[in-house]
This record gives sequence, structure tokens and C-alpha cells, in this order.
Amino acid sequence: MRAVALGCGHYLPERVVSNDELAAQVDTSDEWIVARTGIRRRHIAAEGEKTSDLAAAAGRAALENAGLGPEDIDAVVVATATPDQTFPSTATRVQHALGIKRGFAYDIQAVCAGFIYVLANANGLILSGQAKRILVIGAETFSRILDWDDRATCVLFGDGAGAIVLEAQEGDGGPADRGVLGTCLHSDGAYNDLLYVSGGPSTTQTAGFLRMEGREVFRHAVVKLADVAEEVMEKVGVGPTDLDWIVPHQANLRIIDATARKLSMSMDKVVVTVQDHGNTSAASIPLALSVAVDEGRIRPGDLLLMEAIGGGLAWGAALLRW
Ligand code: ACO
Repeated sequence: MRAVALGCGHYLPERVVSNDELAAQVDTSDEWIVARTGIRRRHIAAEGEKTSDLAAAAGRAALENAGLGPEDIDAVVVATATPDQTFPSTATRVQHALGIKRGFAYDIQAVCAGFIYVLANANGLILSGQAKRILVIGAETFSRILDWDDRATCVLFGDGAGAIVLEAQEGDGGPADRGVLGTCLHSDGAYNDLLYVSGGPSTTQTAGFLRMEGREVFRHAVVKLADVAEEVMEKVGVGPTDLDWIVPHQANLRIIDATARKLSMSMDKVVVTVQDHGNTSAASIPLALSVAVDEGRIRPGDLLLMEAIGGGLAWGAALLRW
């Protein structure tokens, strides 16, 4: 059995904030942000626009793209670190918003690695026969947990959502199958302090603000992403030359570039959207994927490598034949 992607979709809030706009608020510049990160602009959710609104819009687009309706879906899984509320899950809100009446819905929290985790989880649900068609979503409103006075972090992130629909289909068991071919997940809580939010229900009873040791996160990212990419390729039995696209977590162009170089992959084969979206955490991979599918770059049968790292530290990679 394989978890095969039937379609994808994304949603970006209307408001676009340029680097120059941020430079009017904190001591930064377009030149600094572009040189250090590759980011030129990001979308920011409107007042009152919640993560579940973004997630539902992306989910609706993915269902439409797959030619399916709410009655066809039996599970909704959402990766997010910025839920609407501490509980209930954002996924149950999305389930309701989309008119999905059966099955189950829940959230997964692995911050920027969230989409790899939720994809691995949905793949497990399909392989174990617990669900046949799953709406898999990454959605975030990081603008809500940013300290807008901290120039080292507020310039990096944006809001958005991306979604794919997975369906249980029979495959041959080899790397030529369509669908999820393999996933590898890792985490190491020894690095909690490198990237965290300074609050939470059981500590401060507030949501808190994002805090980060940028240079340290960068160092771990380049090494761990290349390692986990090689691990998943070895697990599936493919090599870098078999890949059609890398769809990386969009944190920073320099991390994306350094990881591609470590894998000896040309940047022509890497989907890059960080310039337009900033870092949208768990939403970044499905957003980049959906944009590349819309542009006709990713086509059915293409072999995609996805990789991500974030707070935890938590990281992982997945191979998916589109
Ligand atoms: N504008 C201007 N100057 C700034 C800004 C800014 N927005 N932010 C920091 N600086 C200054 C610092 O204060 C510092 O000044 P100093 O030398 O006078 O002390 C100088 O720039 C260099 O700061 P560093 O933090 O060393 O800059 P670095 O080259 O490491 O770039 C960055 C910072 C972009 C955050 C980088 O470390 C990075 O990309 N790290 C990865 C973090 C990341 O992407 N996290 C996202 C979440 S995890 C993930 O998704 C992978």
C-alpha cells in the first residue's frame, strides 16, 4: 500500500510586507535581510485571521485540485506550532470549516519540521489501514508569536498554509511507485534552548515570543539536513541523481544552498520560495510544493525530496513520488 498524493493547494494572506516596511519599524535594511536570508517579502495574516482560516483555505484548494469533496476525506491532520487555541486542535476547526463530517482530526507539533512529521504520520495511518484519504496540512501564523522589536527574528518569518491530499493505493513496493516512498524523523531535546517560545499554558500562561540562537541553529541545520536527506535516500534505495526536485523547508536561502551543495545538487533542481514567503514554519514545504505544481514545474511521476529542521531540535526528510 502507498499513500499517493492526489492534489495540493495553498493559501497566503492578502497583506504583503516588504523588507523596507520592516526597516521603518526596526533597525534593519533590505540589503541585510536579502544578503543574510534571501527573504524579500512575507505575507502577514489580517487582524482576526487565524491559523485555522489559513489551513481551511489551503485544504479547500487541495480538495478542489484533487477533484474531491468533504465526504471523501476521513482524516484531517494539521502541523502547526501556532494553533488558534491551546485546545481544541486546529485540525478539528478545519474539519468543521470544510464540512467534513466523518473520521477524525488532530494536530501535530514539530515546529518547522512539522510537515515532514505530519506526512510521516499520515503515511502511517494509511499503511496501517486507519484512513483511506487524508487531508494533510501545514499552517502557521508566526506573526502572532514574533517579538516585533527583535530585528534578529521578526524579519525571518511569515504566515501561510499548504495542503496535500493523500489516498491509499496499491503499489509495487519499489521506488518507481507513486506516493510516499520513505520518511526519516529525528529530534534532540538537548537543543531546546536554541529555538523556543518564551511562554505556554503550563509555564507562563501566555503564548510567549519566539527566541532563537540564529547562528547555532544555522550550524545544526546544514549538517543535520544533509545527513537526514542521505539517510532517507539510502532507506528507499535512490541517489541524488534520481531526484527531480528538492522541496526544502524555506528558512533561509543560505541554508537551502549549503544543503543542496552538500548533496551535490544543482540549485536548478531546488524549489525556492523563501524570497516571497519568508519562513512559514510547518507551512513552508507544502506551500513551496503547491506553488511549483501550479507553475507546472513539478509534474506527476517526479521524485521529490523534502527536508526540514526546527525547534526541538526536530528534523526529518521524506521522499515522495508526485
Ligand atoms: N538587520 C540588521 N542587522 C541584524 C539583524 C537585522 N534584521 N539581525 C541581526 N543583526 C545583526 C546582529 O545584531 C549582529 O550584529 P553585531 O555583529 O553588531 O552583534 C550581526 O547582525 C550578525 O548577527 P548574526 O546573528 O551573527 O548574523 P548571521 O549571519 O548568523 O545571520 C540569521 C542571522 C539570518 C538569523 C542566521 O543566523 C540564520 O539564518 N540562522 C538560521 C536561523 C533560522 O533560519 N531559523 C528559522 C527557524 S529554524 C529553521 O527554520 C531552520
